[in-house]
Amino acid sequence: MTLQDLENNGGSENNGVSARGVVVRASRDSDVGAMLAIYLHHIRHGVDPSQHHDIEPPDVDDIKRRRKNMQKNKLPHIVADLAGLVVGYAYAVPFRKRPAYRHVVKHSVYVHHEHLHSGIGRLLLPALIDACAASGYRQMIGYIDAGNRPSIQLHESFGFRQVGYLPSIGFRFGQWTDSLMMQRSLGLGDTAPPDAL
Ligand SMILES: CC(C)(COP(=O)(O)OP(=O)(O)OC[C@H]1O[C@@H](n2cnc3c(N)ncnc32)[C@H](O)[C@@H]1OP(=O)(O)O)[C@@H](O)C(=O)NCCC(=O)NCCS
Repeated sequence: MTLQDLENNGGSENNGVSARGVVVRASRDSDVGAMLAIYLHHIRHGVDPSQHHDIEPPDVDDIKRRRKNMQKNKLPHIVADLAGLVVGYAYAVPFRKRPAYRHVVKHSVYVHHEHLHSGIGRLLLPALIDACAASGYRQMIGYIDAGNRPSIQLHESFGFRQVGYLPSIGFRFGQWTDSLMMQRSLGLGDTAPPDAL
């Protein structure tokens, strides 16, 4: 599914991207507040709902600007919409700024804490993969906390493999944390030279 298909998917259940009323579509400016709330919950609570850490929210206007930039660069920025409510989102950004890496993206996927493990990640991740492939990107990379079993399993089930282990690079909730680097190829991967991007 291309970015254009996701743009056109303005709320109807079609193109096989919906399950139980959830529609995956391109994000809009008006979704940014809901996306930020989903993100803040996860970074403030981690996997333990009894934890709470005061972490400053990112700037909404900054996110809106970045969202527009991504869509201009044919990078997907998508949401899972349940009857008009944003219950998850995912996006891809350039892996690195240097031109040699312009065919590689890194991505994030977040699901609302009240809707976890109900199949929304399973809708968002393949839609994101397809949109990145359709835009001509050849590799996709995710950094995942080594203790984040749900995310690791979700990524494995969509063809991501662990390609790196980064010990003690995070500090959250009073302890050092490790990350995994997971990667999958897109489209023709490295079997043919890239299209012009
Ligand atoms: C990771 C995340 C996006 C998964 O989304 P989700 O909608 O909850 O996942 P789904 O319901 O689509 O499940 C897909 C697969 O993920 C795995 N999974 C999801 N929740 C799980 C859980 N609580 N325990 C173990 N595996 C789980 C399973 O393999 C599942 O497949 P199954 O349904 O056949 O068991 C979600 O847990 C999330 O937003 N977590 C917080 C933010 C985050 O960590 N994002 C990823 C950063 S890299």
